[in-house]
Amino acid sequence: MRLLVKNIGTIVGIDTAARERIAGAEMDRLGRLDEGYLIAEDGRIAAFGSMSELDETEPFDEVLDAEGGTLFPSFCDSHTHLVYAGSREQEFLDKIHGLSYEEIARRGGGILNSADRLHEATEEELYEAARERLHEIMRMGTGLVEIKSGYGLSTEDELKMLRVIRRLRQSEPIEIRATFLGAHAVARNYIGRQEEYVDVVCEEMIPAVAKENLADFVDVFCDQGFFTIEQTRRIMRRGAEYGMKAKIHANELAISGGVQLGVEEGALSVDHLERMGEAEIEALQQAMTMPTMLPGAAFFLGMSYPPARKMISAGLAVALASDYNPGSSPSGNMRMVMALAATQMRMTPTEALHAATLNGAAAMGLSHDFGSITVGKVANFFLTKPLSSPEFFTYAYSTPLIRHTILRGEIWRG
Ligand code: NIG
Ligand code: FE
Repeated sequence: MRLLVKNIGTIVGIDTAARERIAGAEMDRLGRLDEGYLIAEDGRIAAFGSMSELDETEPFDEVLDAEGGTLFPSFCDSHTHLVYAGSREQEFLDKIHGLSYEEIARRGGGILNSADRLHEATEEELYEAARERLHEIMRMGTGLVEIKSGYGLSTEDELKMLRVIRRLRQSEPIEIRATFLGAHAVARNYIGRQEEYVDVVCEEMIPAVAKENLADFVDVFCDQGFFTIEQTRRIMRRGAEYGMKAKIHANELAISGGVQLGVEEGALSVDHLERMGEAEIEALQQAMTMPTMLPGAAFFLGMSYPPARKMISAGLAVALASDYNPGSSPSGNMRMVMALAATQMRMTPTEALHAATLNGAAAMGLSHDFGSITVGKVANFFLTKPLSSPEFFTYAYSTPLIRHTILRGEIWRG
């Protein structure tokens, strides 16, 4: 399959150096080309360049005229919980009336509420609902997404969630990675026996998940009121024995030491980071662990935003992800995430784009294949209407501007 996209007004997100991540001041330099074409062959980017140099006599299976629109690399959303049953708008109302996320969780709502609903749902129902959410984010520009378990909280239900993710992976053209998050909350029947629940996670769940090869990564909600540093370390190490790299929910509710732990244990990413001190930033400077910010959750829960400017000034690479989930971020809209990064964290649209593409891919260990317009990478990108500048895309954050979604070198017509 050979696809030619011609008459592209601007190609953005070009990275000819094929960097693994983009850090510090580099984050604000946009690789771009005006009046371009791009050729995808067998799912990968085969070439791109100026329209004036295009040889249109070559044979193509399909030709797409971009009519002056802008080409962006697809978003790489490295943190979602988009397999879930039902919704939690009652808690949304509780929050409006003054309850905090932690209070709701303590009353048995929150993650446990979603776990109850997931337990009742069939695999088929979960698959259909998640597939709809996946199509929603594909239409909004996402081409690579990580999806977590963590609403099962029993071996059987965690496996059910992960099998749904595997099925989505087989049926959809979007690239998917799966994360085992058994330690998202202590299951209802283990309340007061947290250590025993961690035993189940380590001795029963992780081996069962590995046996069916259902997860690429292991994650823990390491925070005040959830799992401790010691428990998190134990779960990460157990996952590592089975080849699962770690990603951690850290520093959302308190300065928990989760960032330092992630760095020490070589986690792929530490995510949330609403509470960050100097020591956390310093720890990340020596590390390959990707700090990943989820401003959609800060927005929805009314929390403070991570100190993105401080982190970038310290020379760090940072990633942005949606955290799509029914409790703290019921949206997978990465353009909205970029707009929040711009308005609330003073990231430029270019920094936000790199954080939502290449650095997001790096947070999944996949930046060699995804996240930029680079010859040889998977041909995942989208085309917009003609824009007055690339920044317009983040600025006019809710205008429907995307015209075409290309995944694995083929136009997605879903
Ligand atoms: O990333 N912080 C922990 N987990 C999710 C929320 C999950 C939920 O409330 O259902 C998050 O925000
Ligand atoms: Fe999360």
